[in-house]
Amino acid sequence: MSHPPSYDELNANFDWAIAERELGYRPGDVINIGWMCSDRLCRLGLAQKLALLWEDYQGNQKRFTYNDLRVCSNTIAHFLSGLGIRPGERVCLFLDRVPELYVGFLGILKMGAVAQPLFSAFGDESLCVRLKDAGTAAIITQKKHLHKIRKIREQLPNLRYAIVVDAPQASLQERETAFAMEQASPVQDFPIYPTKAESPSVLHYTSGTTGQPKGAQHVHYSIIAQYLTAKWVLGFQPDDIYWCNADPGWVTGTSYGIIGPWANGITQAVLDSGFNAGKWYEFIEKYRVTVWYSAPTAIRLLMKEGAEIIRKHDLSSLRHLASVGEPLNPEAVNWSREVFGKPFHDTFWQTETGCIVIANFPGMEIKPGSMGKPFPGITATVLDPKTYELVNRAGAAGLIALRPGWPSQICGYWNNAAGYQAKFRNGWYLCGDRASIDTDGYFWFMGRDDDVINTGGHLVGPFEVESALLGCPAVAESAAVAKPDPVNMEVVKAYVTVKQGFQPSDDLELEIMNHIRKRLSPLAMPQEIEFVDSLPKTRSGKIVRRILRCKEFHEPVGDLSTIMDD
Ligand code: WT7
Repeated sequence: MSHPPSYDELNANFDWAIAERELGYRPGDVINIGWMCSDRLCRLGLAQKLALLWEDYQGNQKRFTYNDLRVCSNTIAHFLSGLGIRPGERVCLFLDRVPELYVGFLGILKMGAVAQPLFSAFGDESLCVRLKDAGTAAIITQKKHLHKIRKIREQLPNLRYAIVVDAPQASLQERETAFAMEQASPVQDFPIYPTKAESPSVLHYTSGTTGQPKGAQHVHYSIIAQYLTAKWVLGFQPDDIYWCNADPGWVTGTSYGIIGPWANGITQAVLDSGFNAGKWYEFIEKYRVTVWYSAPTAIRLLMKEGAEIIRKHDLSSLRHLASVGEPLNPEAVNWSREVFGKPFHDTFWQTETGCIVIANFPGMEIKPGSMGKPFPGITATVLDPKTYELVNRAGAAGLIALRPGWPSQICGYWNNAAGYQAKFRNGWYLCGDRASIDTDGYFWFMGRDDDVINTGGHLVGPFEVESALLGCPAVAESAAVAKPDPVNMEVVKAYVTVKQGFQPSDDLELEIMNHIRKRLSPLAMPQEIEFVDSLPKTRSGKIVRRILRCKEFHEPVGDLSTIMDD
């Protein structure tokens, strides 16, 4: 096994042209993600290599080679063109994690349309808002989700077709079309639409942890960054079996659940099933998963289930673990070292960045609790929140800012130019998060801008409070939010869920307080702990502190369309 290059080696003479060359792209060429993730690999001799190992919650299995991907995505592209879908139109993928979702994504891109993936668990209202906003022309779905579309169809004059992948035409209504991917006559050659670098590719609605969901518009050139970040940060090797447990309704599930691995010619395993610790470990064991990209919300659930269940499985195939989406608490890194024998590597990015921008690279020294260092070619810093000037002091917190112009940067928000413009200051793109940078150049996440707690003029990030709380044996999950205070303006309040075997009580509250007192500054100490059964989360599993904060301030919570129990 080759040794991963050091961070300094990766940085030396970095140029995105490295990725352009490796993908065979020259500026001005046609560039199409659908083609690059299937046909290109076949041409390189990987036609018979497995691209997708798929399994659902009932244990049904399917396998697709790169040639299968190529032909099936051609077939879908051909079908969509035949329906009269035009390049640039939006085609929504409203599917569980079935093969049609992954292959359909490539097919939509091959014929030049824009893929709009949405969580199949969305209720009809969440769906309606996003289809209306995008003026979506067609939606690909399963029979079990059709009732939601039927309910809102009248409100969507632009939606010409609902395409159903698992029902006979006879069972469908007007403007509903049956399409069975594996039964359709295979299309060996499809004329790929000649998309260019700046052509729109994917429209992702952001998880909306703060305010209205926005449609982030990605372009085909994004593959340049998704390819290289996947290769270097996830440390791909040719024989890897890769598992990204994110749903493509979330950008992690497309950038690193479709484009990143397939641009690299990697075999990926997909489990179409919700969280279940036993099932997940079985899946890793059965498919001999080597690289696993997960998220703190899942890791916390695994921690809650304990180490006993891990010992029942052979997880020795795992070589590299990475995480994204929320701060990865040091407790989670240490736990993973203990139980898997290797740490989760935190990575930081956003729907808007399209690719990983700050990361702990394979082989790099991990400082638990830190997000690591900027990807080569990404200029990242922190700015003073008032002046937007550089914060030039190691350890001082500021706004995370990126120099615009990396390949997978979105080209804007759909129908919302002002919203995107508002993200820039002094020539920097602002992520909307706060962090500090230490003397070694490592970034330390503090909190989302809107989640930071201002107590008597001192800013407290929820991350440090929650990390301390997670160190208590009884605490399963926590959210630290601001609570109004007549003296300090705001004080910290913590919402906490407890692990099995613990009962909320005044004594337990005291015990937790005593435990964290040693680890937190007095300012960051919660004034109150409230035990709850669950915390509000987005579909992608992010804790939505805004809802808890609004409760404390008796303010309206605004748009909740991406929250779990809608
Ligand atoms: C927001 C972006 C990440 C791709 C999918 C989510 C938070 C993300 C981390 C991390 C702390 C993180 C930030 C960011 N976030 N990764 N490693 N540590 N916070 O994209 O839904 O657009 O959310 O997720 O607040 O701004 P998203």
